[in-house]
Amino acid sequence: MKNLTKAFLAVLAFAVVFSTCSLAQSGADLFKGKCAMCHGPDGKGETPMGKNLKVRDLGSADVQSQSDADLTNIVTNGKGKMPKYDGKLTKDQIGDLVKYLRTLKH
Ligand code: HEC
Repeated sequence: MKNLTKAFLAVLAFAVVFSTCSLAQSGADLFKGKCAMCHGPDGKGETPMGKNLKVRDLGSADVQSQSDADLTNIVTNGKGKMPKYDGKLTKDQIGDLVKYLRTLKH
């Protein structure tokens, strides 16, 4: 019985780790595919396009101090030269992207 409980917990732990990994992965893939041309692969905006548009470093305190709702709103509805992704990405995809943006914090 004890072994069974252990085995169950191990499977559960694996499932949790695996599911959060695959979530982070899809946010990272989306970012590389849709956002990196302006924001750079690391979100710092050090691309010709990013410099031209004067994007802020997405990992900076200025950007990270905004709430998830604010960031979701910017990605969904756009802001200035930032294109809107409403209709191009699902709410879940935008949610994954916002989670990914949090991993860029430095
Ligand atoms: C065509 C270039 C371009 C692309 C592609 C782009 N962005 Fe942006 N993004 C911008 C610009 C320019 C701004 C600054 C807007 C402003 O403050 O006027 C910005 C701002 C932002 C901000 C707010 C940062 C701040 O200064 O508060 C977030 C968050 C963001 N972008 C996320 C994303 C995500 C996620 C994607 C991909 C789905 C993406 N962007 C794709 C150009 C782009």
